[in-house]
Amino acid sequence: MTARTAGFTTIVLGAGAAGLMAAATAGQAGARVLVLDHAPHAGRKILISGGGRCNFTNMDTGAGQFLSANPHFAKSALARYTPADFLALVQRHRIPWHEKAAGQLFCDRSARDIVDMLRRECAAGQVDVRVSHRIIDVTRDGAGQYRVETDHGIFHAPNLIVATGGLSIPKLGATGLAHDIARRFGLRIVAPAPALVPLTFGAQDREWMEPLAGLSVTVGITCHEGEGRLARQATFRDGMVFTHRGLSGPAILQASSYWQPGQALDIDLLPGIDAGRRLQEIKRDRPRAGGVAMLSMLLPQRLAQLMAQAHLPDGQLAGMPDAVLANVGRILSGWRLNPHGTEGYVKAEVTRGGVDTDCLSSRDMQARDVPGLFMVGEAVDVTGWLGGYNFQWAWASGHAAGQAA
Ligand code: FDA
Repeated sequence: MTARTAGFTTIVLGAGAAGLMAAATAGQAGARVLVLDHAPHAGRKILISGGGRCNFTNMDTGAGQFLSANPHFAKSALARYTPADFLALVQRHRIPWHEKAAGQLFCDRSARDIVDMLRRECAAGQVDVRVSHRIIDVTRDGAGQYRVETDHGIFHAPNLIVATGGLSIPKLGATGLAHDIARRFGLRIVAPAPALVPLTFGAQDREWMEPLAGLSVTVGITCHEGEGRLARQATFRDGMVFTHRGLSGPAILQASSYWQPGQALDIDLLPGIDAGRRLQEIKRDRPRAGGVAMLSMLLPQRLAQLMAQAHLPDGQLAGMPDAVLANVGRILSGWRLNPHGTEGYVKAEVTRGGVDTDCLSSRDMQARDVPGLFMVGEAVDVTGWLGGYNFQWAWASGHAAGQAA
């Protein structure tokens, strides 16, 4: 790679998914680009993503699969750089891939293929990628040049793309730098919180949950976001797993992105089934069975036992009043649990919240009131569902900024 050495037009902070995409796009469009990252390698989060195979996009991506205070913000960038565009890039680099669940695309071999591809794309744009650079200070001078001071020297450029991500997984180098820079330049921050993260419970709940640890069940959870005109809801039907600390599994991770401290979680243990009617049918067909036997026809044994102990009298179904079964039916369809918290940034796949989208142009991710300052990727208040959406946002927002910077 022959890197241009001086007179950068664009500095990108962060050599992750969004930063490498932004840098390659800008470099290939003729910008002289420098990427700075404090980690020893580029794309570390990409390498561990998708269980090492990187769920690099979701073919069904639309703004509806993202949480944001402004649910319309992501539309423009997502429409101008689509999953098909990224897939075309993957295919151009002859990376073998497969569709795991509907729309979710993974590498056949390893996530390293994606990092290598992005590095090659950066090289094609003569991007200078420098790792192990600690960022000490970021300022803007009177002439509108950004000045980035690092432990390896000071760099200047008229454009600064901030792609340092969110706060999730600090041991991989996550920091709040993007939020700090945003605040410094007068951009607002939507309160960040861990998302796509297991939920924890208080001691009382953990006591009865403990014997269920490891048990997995398919559930339905309906989540709500926003208020008034911007109110939206989403229902996830997927696996839930009991852990020693509480609940995990894809349905819970999805719900965690919507969950607010103090909120209850209503879990449908029999999604798609009219639970009350089903219990009446079992009573009719097997009147001499007991409560545990009835619930074991619908739920894993250990959970059936727990539910029967808590909500059903002993004895045969024939002797159980219909009202008791109707009540259990309601509990199975909307099992109300009260999470205590989350497992935090140490375990969270992403950070929700971040740079307020009202402060950015949805077209190119540039700060409305700070020319030349761009915010992309997870640093921004756009958070995708589980399933490849977060990388698609990183590619799309990085591409939008790279075209403009
Ligand atoms: P990203 O975090 O990728 O990059 C930020 C970069 O900035 C890093 O290189 C970091 O070192 C650097 N940086 C941070 N602070 C700095 C500082 N102070 N100074 C200098 N550099 C700094 N998504 C998906 O769509 N499909 C998937 O399969 C998965 N799987 C997955 C697994 C796990 C375990 C995690 C934790 C996350 C995922 N994700 C995912 C989410 C996905 O990884 C995430 O949304 C993107 O990596 C975000 O891309 P960014 O470029 O915005 O940040």
